[in-house]
Amino acid sequence: MNLGFIGTGKIASSIIYGIFKSKLKINKIYISSRNVNIAKKLSGKFSKVKVCKNNQEIINNSKVIFLSVTPNVGKKILKKLIFDKNKIIISLISTLKIKELKKLTNCNKICKAIPLPFIENKLGPIILSPKNRIANKILSKLGNVIEINNEKISYSFWSTSSIMAAYYELLNLTTKWLVKKKIKQKTAINYISELFLALSKDAVLKKTIGFNKLVADSQTPGGLNMQVLNELKKGKFYDKFLKSLDNVHRRIKH
Ligand SMILES: NC(=O)c1ccc[n+]([C@@H]2O[C@H](COP(=O)([O-])OP(=O)(O)OC[C@H]3O[C@@H](n4cnc5c(N)ncnc54)[C@H](OP(=O)(O)O)[C@@H]3O)[C@@H](O)[C@H]2O)c1
Repeated sequence: MNLGFIGTGKIASSIIYGIFKSKLKINKIYISSRNVNIAKKLSGKFSKVKVCKNNQEIINNSKVIFLSVTPNVGKKILKKLIFDKNKIIISLISTLKIKELKKLTNCNKICKAIPLPFIENKLGPIILSPKNRIANKILSKLGNVIEINNEKISYSFWSTSSIMAAYYELLNLTTKWLVKKKIKQKTAINYISELFLALSKDAVLKKTIGFNKLVADSQTPGGLNMQVLNELKKGKFYDKFLKSLDNVHRRIKH
């Protein structure tokens, strides 16, 4: 199977790295020369990656085409491209709806996916909406595919996928706090990354018991965990967090 990527930025390159670490059988991957540096790096590293002269050449050569440009670029360039009816489009563009994409591309076989950068290590959930057999076949080699048939419901997942930077900032700030307390940066980074890894792994292992119980079980009455949780609640930390999710959701469904 030949795959194509319109837009060779962060998420396209993460997917391509993931593909070459996976068991997915592909013939060629056709990419755009934009971004030029990323395109050079990928084609230099992987002999199956070919850089095309223009976006139309990517489409003509590929059975499955990933749209990995930003929404404004997508709106501008898609209407000028020709997709024949047999092409399958996997759009990664958050704010372009399937209806809009069908209009822009004149193509019917369109689904949207939400991979995240750690797909480069074959990690993480990938929302796929609506169901698509071929897209599932590709993406399930790269992560844990969760199919959501209703596009409107998938917007909620787009919103929750926007917490990455806020999450990493927690690791960043906690590490800097340790360094201020005279702990070596290397030791602090090691401790914090292992701590968050253990918390996440534990949550996965205990996912059937639900997060309410995990929150409860991590506190001793009057203990340190309870203190931090209560202080953050009092400071409206979690209210602000939920408000941000609402705001992002409003932006996506608009
Ligand atoms: N990053 C994520 O975690 C993530 C996750 C899921 C979905 N997405 C979605 O995926 C899309 C891309 O995100 P990204 O983070 O990968 O952004 P990005 O790194 O900015 O990549 C966008 C790419 O599009 C290229 N481009 C601009 N104009 C183009 C054109 N006319 N033809 C072909 N390529 C063109 C840019 O090249 P130049 O650098 O040369 O301008 C750049 O390489 C967005 O819609 C985003 O919402 C991102």
